[in-house]
Amino acid sequence: MCGIVGYVGKRDCTEVLMNGLRKLEYRGYDSAGIAVFQNGEITVAKSKGRLDDLEERMKQDGAPIGQVGIGHTRWATHGEPSDVNSHPHSGGRVTIVHNGIIENYKEIKDFLITKGVSFDSDTDTEVVARLLDYRYNGSPIQTISETVRDLKGSYALGIIFADHPEQVYTVRCESPLIVGVGELESFIASDVLAIIEYTRNYYLLEHEEIAVLGRDGVHIYDAFGQPVQKELKTADWDVETIGKGGYAHFMLKEIHEQPTAIRNTIRPRIRDGLPNLEECGITLEVLRAFRHIHIIACGTAMHAGTVGKYVIEKLACVQVTVDIASEFRYRDPLVGEGDLVIIISQSGETADSLVAMRLAKKLGAKTLAIVNAMGSSIAREADMLIYTYAGPEIAVASTKAYMVQIAVMYLFAFELALAVGKIDETKCRSFVHLLEQTPDVISEILNHKEQTQYIASSLITADSLLYIGRGLDYALSMEGSLKLKEISYIHSESYAAGELKHGTISLITENMPVIAVATQKALWEKTISNIKEVKARGAKVILVCRKSDVVDKDAVDMRFGLPDFDDMLMPMIAVVPLQLIAYYTSVLKGNDVDKPRNLAKSVTVE
Ligand code: F6R
Repeated sequence: MCGIVGYVGKRDCTEVLMNGLRKLEYRGYDSAGIAVFQNGEITVAKSKGRLDDLEERMKQDGAPIGQVGIGHTRWATHGEPSDVNSHPHSGGRVTIVHNGIIENYKEIKDFLITKGVSFDSDTDTEVVARLLDYRYNGSPIQTISETVRDLKGSYALGIIFADHPEQVYTVRCESPLIVGVGELESFIASDVLAIIEYTRNYYLLEHEEIAVLGRDGVHIYDAFGQPVQKELKTADWDVETIGKGGYAHFMLKEIHEQPTAIRNTIRPRIRDGLPNLEECGITLEVLRAFRHIHIIACGTAMHAGTVGKYVIEKLACVQVTVDIASEFRYRDPLVGEGDLVIIISQSGETADSLVAMRLAKKLGAKTLAIVNAMGSSIAREADMLIYTYAGPEIAVASTKAYMVQIAVMYLFAFELALAVGKIDETKCRSFVHLLEQTPDVISEILNHKEQTQYIASSLITADSLLYIGRGLDYALSMEGSLKLKEISYIHSESYAAGELKHGTISLITENMPVIAVATQKALWEKTISNIKEVKARGAKVILVCRKSDVVDKDAVDMRFGLPDFDDMLMPMIAVVPLQLIAYYTSVLKGNDVDKPRNLAKSVTVE
């Protein structure tokens, strides 16, 4: 998704903006640009492509020199990626960068055309720049406040006015934006990561709040231009935490951070060997009140929710439905009072999940958010909240966030099962104890991961793959398959192993490798039969199962042996080789592992 950075201070603004934009690269983008006041005039540099292309352009044309400006990485929505569609966009006296979507841009554009305004680009952003300019009466705050009342959609804007060369203005509606405060300098950014090397202190802007940044500090106003006082927050991540820490890619680093992420997430929620989610607003009484649970999320987070469904239904015997957030909203969901809706989201800003959560609330359900990004929109709007403590996840492909989402799902299921009397305290303690052991078991895999590279090297020539499994292994296959396709660009699908024979098995040839996951003892024989079915049709079979499992040599071509562990918690263990296989396949194919094409880390448009 697009990234915004803005700066007012004493430093070289171009350098601050470019540094900040580099930190936001993980969000995904296809063009970039900056606008800086140089000798009192707004100077724009922008280019299609990566930040390196913009740097190159600035080497040729000269980089703007100044101390006040705004910058942007664009992920195309309205208009193709091109120099002209790149931000910043100017509308005369006003120049802006924009994150999000203006839904009624066409209407506004038509109106402005009737007023004689003409346009250079295809973007909704230029429409906002021109509307601001059309309305501009010398008072930036009043102009912004009046203009945003006409905008529909989700957006965050960084704005500079030609006649206010010492200030940067900003306003947000739905799309995330923070305002950083340093010593005689201030910043705006889509993510704290962009400015953390300069300051840890920041304000979280609320819906339609407007901020004015100057060297004398930051002033914040509500939607009607009235001053508001806000709490200054402090980010507790250090620069080392957000660097690669010696790993070749963020994804590999984040895979290795999983044991720590689990410990950080579960420890504060365990008391006397039992799950304790009271601090998140969840007590045994609260849990007993729910008759149905809906889990809503997207992509990897939805896969974590699918694991949660299996575990909650098995342990607590409470019915759970899992919905893709973008589908939930449009299918007249049967949700209401007495239901619990769990929203799972790493970023806490995914538009589909946010809108689905609002709908669930409107329908009378209680909402529980499981979120990694502190202070994000989903975190703020949910009735109850469990933060996952994975730390910043930079690689677009989610790994450690998925891991802690599942860890929370287990804790929740244990507590619910206890609340509804399906397990007693002794049983619950034994489950919690197992969960506490998962970090060590995962570390064991990470110390012996060579086999995953070998498996990856056998996949790089494949055009298409299948992942199969049953029960929890099927839930896990979905995640394995998504991970592989998003970063290796090899097509893959996950299938319930028993469902293959109802159609999909016709795809099997010697050119279609099959990755089978078999960690559930009760389903072992059945999954092995399915493996034999595909093997008999020529497939190369890669099996992920326990080291101790005895498998007929002719049934598989390669295998990854997992340490022995409890069936129910196996998804947390078995996902690690699947993540590594996807990672090494992408590396071997020479792909941009951390920033796969067409993808964005935080998807703030519906
Ligand atoms: C895949 C991936 C995505 C996200 C999805 C939801 O690796 O990361 O599928 O899981 O876009 O994002 P969040 O969790 O931020 O709501």
